[in-house]
Amino acid sequence: MFKKDLISIADLGTDFPEVINLALRLKRDRYSRRDSVVGRTMGMIFEKSSTRTRVSLETAIFQLGGHGIFLNPSDMQMGRGETVSDTAHVLSGMLDIITYRAFKHENVLSLAKNSSVPVINALDDKEHPLQLIADYMTIAEKKNRISGLKFAYVGDGNNMANSIMIASAMAGSDVSIASPKGFEPAKEYVEIARKIAKENGVTVEIMNDPVEAVKDSDIVYTDVWVSMGEEKQREEKEKTFRPYQVNSDLVSHARKDYIFMHCLPAHRGLEVTDEVADSINSVIFQEAENRLHSAKAAIVYLLEH
Ligand code: CP
Ligand code: NVA
Repeated sequence: MFKKDLISIADLGTDFPEVINLALRLKRDRYSRRDSVVGRTMGMIFEKSSTRTRVSLETAIFQLGGHGIFLNPSDMQMGRGETVSDTAHVLSGMLDIITYRAFKHENVLSLAKNSSVPVINALDDKEHPLQLIADYMTIAEKKNRISGLKFAYVGDGNNMANSIMIASAMAGSDVSIASPKGFEPAKEYVEIARKIAKENGVTVEIMNDPVEAVKDSDIVYTDVWVSMGEEKQREEKEKTFRPYQVNSDLVSHARKDYIFMHCLPAHRGLEVTDEVADSINSVIFQEAENRLHSAKAAIVYLLEH
C-alpha cells in the first residue's frame, strides 16, 4: 500500500502551497473534526526535549478527532536496544501515523522505511519540516504571499538552515544564509535547495557576512547557536557566533516592514536581543501558535494521500 512520509520539507514538493492553505483553513475552523482523522491514533516518539512540537501534535490529533500517544524512548524497549526497524514494524501494525523526534536522521529514515503508516520527522539533526510549514504559513499571513520575498537566516548552518533553504526555494523566495566560517549549511542540502531554486527562478546564497544577508530582506530569522545534542560545544560556539547576534543594529539593514522570526526556544541575549524579539516586527508567538494549525495540516495531508 502506498503511503506518504514527511521526512524533509522537500517531500511536499509542489503541494507545499496547498498544505499552507490547508493550515490557514484549519486555523479558521479551529475545533472542527476531520473524517480522515476521527478514531485514528498517532504515536509520538521523542528522543529530545520539546515544548511546541509535542503540544502542537498532541493537540492537533485530539482536535481533529484522533488520539495521540506520547512515547519516551527511555520507557520503550527501544531504550533497551530494540531496533528502530523492529519498532517500526510493531508500531505500524497498531498505529495510523507516527511522529519521531530523533538525534539521528538515519533513524528517522529507518523508521519510515520499515513502517507501513506515514512517518513525520518531528526534528532531527538534518531537518525540521513541521516548523517550515508553520513559518511559511506565518509569512503568508503577514505578507499575503510566500513568493518574491527575500529571506535572511543568520546563525548556525543547522537543521533549521537546511529546511529554510529548501522551503524558501520551494516557495519561490530568495534566501541568504549568513553563518560563521566552518558553520555553513552542509553542501548536500545547499545543492538540494539550489536545484529547486533554479526551477523556480530564485537564489540560495551562503555567506559569512550577516549584514549582507540581512540587507533589504523581508524576513530575518535566527535559531539557537547550540542545538540539542551539541551541549559540549557551547563555550566555543557562543564565542564564535557573537558577531551573528540579531540585534537592532543588524535589523536596521532589513526592509522597514521586515518580520523577525525564530523557531523558538530563544536564548535571549545570545542569538537575539529582547529589543528585536519583542519589537513590533517580531511574529514569534504567532509563528509558535501556527505550529498547531500546521501540524493539523501535515496530519490531514498525509492521512488523505
Ligand atoms: N520549535 C520547536 O520545534 O520547538 P520545540 O523544541 O519546543 O518543539
Ligand atoms: N536547531 C535547534 C532547533 C530547535 C527547535 C535544535 O535542533 O535544537
